[in-house]
Amino acid sequence: MCPPAHFQVTYSINPWMDPAKPVDTAVALLQWEDLRDRYRALGHTVEILEPVPGLPDMVFSANGATVVDGKVFGARFANAERWDEAPAHLEWFRAHGYTEIHEPEHVNEGEGDFTPTASWVLAGAGFRSSPAVRAEAQEFFGRPVIGLELIDPRYYHLDTALAVLDGDEVMYYPEAFSAGSRAVLARMFPDALLATEDDARAFGLNAVSDGLHVILPVQATGLVQPLRERGFEPVPVDMSELHKAGGSVKCVTQELRD
Ligand code: ARG
Repeated sequence: MCPPAHFQVTYSINPWMDPAKPVDTAVALLQWEDLRDRYRALGHTVEILEPVPGLPDMVFSANGATVVDGKVFGARFANAERWDEAPAHLEWFRAHGYTEIHEPEHVNEGEGDFTPTASWVLAGAGFRSSPAVRAEAQEFFGRPVIGLELIDPRYYHLDTALAVLDGDEVMYYPEAFSAGSRAVLARMFPDALLATEDDARAFGLNAVSDGLHVILPVQATGLVQPLRERGFEPVPVDMSELHKAGGSVKCVTQELRD
């Protein structure tokens, strides 16, 4: 996680961002600290990436790389405003003993569009990541990479429209995907939890699960009961200040799958 010390909305690269609307950096920091403390209280280790001045979106650390089996696939951001975040992530991994590090040829925004499940790596495209990066990631990870097309600009990253709950169990918002990708998802995940428009708009799919606890935005109220029925324990948190930049719980959390 990377603290939102320099968080601001100074440019707009997704429909949620409006530089004319004020952002309270202090509130964002409190909300972020609350999430970090919840992870720790649940027994998870949280590593901290130093924030860099002039990179207001760096708080969305999920976008900086994808780690599977301890192998690090670096990011190559679509927008110039975020280009400089990628080397900061690679530097962190090098300094922390990771040796299998891949600097990507094709555009991809880390876990924004790569979602590893137990058996596959799901790969979103349509707004940020290049479809060409799928072959590159499959070769590096040695895991099947399944492409999914995003069609709604509000759900510009796969992690705003789909979350892994446990193993190969997922929840997603079908309307964010092309007809073909919807059919692929229905075939792969026939028992998936399907989210409503209200819960998708509240960033309910931008959730992090440890297989039991599902940490999700408090505004996504419609997901609480369905998650309980499946045996999960919903842990609501308020990330409202970060929603102004188009990100929530998952976007600020990069998972180190060592
Ligand atoms: N403002 C950031 C952007 O548009 C938000 C990134 C959200 N991160 C995510 N994993 N969806 O790039």
